[in-house]
Amino acid sequence: MPAALPVAGNRFVIVGGASLVGSATAGELLDHGAAEVVLFDNFAFGSEQAVAHLKDHPRLRLVRGDVMRLPDLLRATEGAAGLLLLAAYMTLSMDRDPWGGLDVNIRGVQNALEAARANRARKVVFASSNAVYGYGPKVAGELVEDTPFHSVGAPPAAILYGASKIIGEQLCRDYHRRHGLDYVVLRYSTVYGERQHYRAANALYIIETYDRVRRGERPQVFGDGSETKHFVYVGDLARANRMAFEAAATDVAVNCSGPAPITTLELVRLVTRLAGAGGHPAPEPEFVGEEPGKVRLTSGGAFRIAHEAAERAIGWRPLVDMEEGLRRLIAWREGKEGRGAG
Ligand SMILES: NC(=O)c1ccc[n+]([C@@H]2O[C@H](COP(=O)([O-])OP(=O)(O)OC[C@H]3O[C@@H](n4cnc5c(N)ncnc54)[C@H](O)[C@@H]3O)[C@@H](O)[C@H]2O)c1
Repeated sequence: MPAALPVAGNRFVIVGGASLVGSATAGELLDHGAAEVVLFDNFAFGSEQAVAHLKDHPRLRLVRGDVMRLPDLLRATEGAAGLLLLAAYMTLSMDRDPWGGLDVNIRGVQNALEAARANRARKVVFASSNAVYGYGPKVAGELVEDTPFHSVGAPPAAILYGASKIIGEQLCRDYHRRHGLDYVVLRYSTVYGERQHYRAANALYIIETYDRVRRGERPQVFGDGSETKHFVYVGDLARANRMAFEAAATDVAVNCSGPAPITTLELVRLVTRLAGAGGHPAPEPEFVGEEPGKVRLTSGGAFRIAHEAAERAIGWRPLVDMEEGLRRLIAWREGKEGRGAG
């Protein structure tokens, strides 16, 4: 059977769907005519709030279930053509609870793949991460798909997270090899956008900078501000997830990053400008030394996560640059605060 899975007319299950990426992708799949989108989640981190904007959609169903319980997954994925696997602990959560994180990121993925196989789903898209390249000074320059994992000197939680994503990817490969299950792995870089949460350190930094400027304080820059970060806008990822189902590609892993990297100092200046759009002069950033306990992806300098392979594999490239993406994040946050929602 061809690996291309049209979205229109088919049923999809988003495992870990009450999430930042899940909420955006559900909208994308529904807009492209999916017959039904099931959001499967145990609400460990996600919330009904994250998907409140879709709650009354006639083709959306919210199912409470745990990836650690195979029967929950088997029930939820009956009749599903495609599964998007998002449920995971990221580094900060892994640091608090490594046991739980390894369970969800490894056994949870295994269970979801088993449910896909048992229910004869046609394709799986697995959310991996640029954490599969590791951390530290050896990870610099251009990160391409065959850049090896570098772990020396990184904190345990970062290594556990990156390694658990490598294992998740390999479980997908193994199901393809043994059972012919088609899959695409997308290695997201740091995600930001509407319905932003506080579970990823770099995106949290955007919100903290914004809040400081709004309170009239100077924004803080850690180090000398030259460290690069490479974000991706959540709406671009929603499109990537949809296109990974629709493409003929299978048995492949590709990076999904935004149009261009940004230095910490550029990011702070950009957020400051957008936050201060009320007409006041933008406050100058304050340099405060190294952030305590910070995991550095690189040693600073030029650093970019290449996304050209994604264009070749699934026809995707990022469309939303940081300025536009941040405007949307800020508009969402202002609207939410305006409505008094939590
Ligand atoms: N946010 C980022 O910056 C980023 C970067 C790279 C990769 N990723 C990956 O993308 C995916 C989605 O990220 P996100 O930011 O939307 O995540 P998120 O934390 O918003 O969502 C993860 C979801 O999984 C659910 N979940 C956790 N344990 C579960 C369990 N046992 N059973 C069922 N559901 C469970 C949580 O409740 C949550 O809704 C994750 O796999 C993450 O590792 C995220």
